[in-house]
Amino acid sequence: MEDPAKIAAAREAVKYVMHNTIVGVGTGTTSLIFLRELARRLVSGELGSVKLVPTSTETEVEIVNLGLGDYLRYPWQVSHIDIAIDGADEVDGSKNLIKGGGGALTREKIIDYWAREFIVIVDETKLVSRVPSNHPIPIEVIPYAWSIVKARIEREFGGRASLRVSGGKRGPVITDNGNYILDFTPGAALNPREAEVAIKAIPGVVEVGLFSGERVSMVIVGKRDGSVSIIK
Ligand code: A5P
Repeated sequence: MEDPAKIAAAREAVKYVMHNTIVGVGTGTTSLIFLRELARRLVSGELGSVKLVPTSTETEVEIVNLGLGDYLRYPWQVSHIDIAIDGADEVDGSKNLIKGGGGALTREKIIDYWAREFIVIVDETKLVSRVPSNHPIPIEVIPYAWSIVKARIEREFGGRASLRVSGGKRGPVITDNGNYILDFTPGAALNPREAEVAIKAIPGVVEVGLFSGERVSMVIVGKRDGSVSIIK
């Protein structure tokens, strides 16, 4: 059974999608619930004329499976994103995020940071006092550079960075962009905003799954009783 907290957050987010807008659609279980709710409103005619820009192959496939292929757009087909709705692995009180548990961090950041409004939808278990807490920081790297980036991150920040391996195939996970992912657990607490900039600056790094709270318009937190709270 689907998590009622995720459903509550996703249903609330759908209310922010307006007629005739360009919507960035996130990745992960919560984003897929959001997409399904959006599909319901489109099919019923409550909403029309939206364009949907997916942040991953998973989301793109689901847009098609839901019969919404006519609404699908790629970044080069739109001039802007009005609103992006996306999940997260962890959120702190300043809206800083860890994303990339599903390996989609790069396309997510491209679309989420491009959007005029970026809304995060999470269930209450994702709230932490500081990021990272319970999840490593995903770092997408070009395959040629993975061992260099791993060594440099461990030297500069302490802790350990491990190459993510796949469940469905032997060997490293290959992202939608043809890259590898390092999952980095720092040796000590770090400043998420400074770390986002510093890790991104390492040659070979494509993107880092730290998202600055300054880029997040609001976080919708769904609770098990079906209610939501908003962090602005
Ligand atoms: C995908 O790479 C991630 O950033 C997801 O947005 C994140 O893992 C949240 O996924 P769930 O909604 O499935 O928890």
